[in-house]
Amino acid sequence: METFKRELKNFSLGKCLDIGTRNGEFLLKLKESAIDYEELLGIDNDEAVILKNKDNGDDIKFIHMDGEGLEFQDNSFDTVCLSNTLHHLKDSSALMAEMKRVLKKDGHIIINEMYSNNQNLQQLTHLELHHMSAEIDQILGKEHYHTYKESEIIEMVKESGFMVFNHFSYMESDEFNKKLIKKIDKIDKTVEKIAGHEDYSKYVKKADEIKTMYSENGILPCTQLIVIGKK
Ligand SMILES: C[S@@+](CC[C@H](N)C(=O)[O-])C[C@H]1O[C@@H](n2cnc3c(N)ncnc32)[C@H](O)[C@@H]1O
Repeated sequence: METFKRELKNFSLGKCLDIGTRNGEFLLKLKESAIDYEELLGIDNDEAVILKNKDNGDDIKFIHMDGEGLEFQDNSFDTVCLSNTLHHLKDSSALMAEMKRVLKKDGHIIINEMYSNNQNLQQLTHLELHHMSAEIDQILGKEHYHTYKESEIIEMVKESGFMVFNHFSYMESDEFNKKLIKKIDKIDKTVEKIAGHEDYSKYVKKADEIKTMYSENGILPCTQLIVIGKK
C-alpha cells in the first residue's frame, strides 16, 4: 500500500466515478491517498450491494447502474475508475467505451486489477483460490473469470483508446490478507454451493490442493496493477 499512497499522493480526483464499486473499497483507498476530490460516485449493477451502502454515512454517493450503459452525459467526470472488475466482464470493450465517453477531455482513468503473472508461492495460493471461486461462480451463472496478465491489462487500456502515462504494481494491506485467510477457512463452504453438480468432486479435490498449498506455503495477496490513462 505504500507504493499506492506514494504514487497517488499528488493526484486530484475532482468529480470521480467508480464503476463496479461494491462497498466503495477502492474509492476509500483513493480518498485516503489523493490530495483532494470534489465528488465521489460509486455505481454497481448489483442492486443489493447498493441498497446496503446507500446510507452508510461515507461521503460516497452509491447508485445502482450498469457500467455498460452509464446514465451520465458525455465529458462528465475528471476521474473514472474500475477496480478488480475487469475479470468480471465477458467483453470489456463496451464498458471501456462508456468510461471514455463520460470522461472529460483531460480527465484520467484509473484501472486497478490483481494480475496472474510473476506471483510467488504464497501469492499462488491466492491466485488458485481466486480462480477456483471464479469457476464456481460461473457454474452458478455469474460473470467471473480468471485474472489477466499485467501486459494484457495494459494492452486492453491502450486498445480502448486511452494514452497510458503511468502504471505501477503494489501490495495489498495486511487487512486484505486477513480476509483471504477467512476465505481459505471457508473453502469447503464455497465448494458446497455446487453440491450435486457434475463437477462437484473435481472442485472438492481442487479445494484440498489449495488447502495443501496454504499449509505448505501460506498465503499472500496477488500483486495489484494500477494503470492510469488519459483520453
Ligand atoms: C470484485 S468486485 C470489485 C469491488 C471493488 N471495486 C474493489 O475493488 O474491491 C466487482 C464488482 O463489479 C460489479 N460489476 C460487475 N459487472 C458490472 C457492470 N457491468 N456494471 C457495474 N458493476 C458491475 C459487481 O457487482 C461487483 O460488485
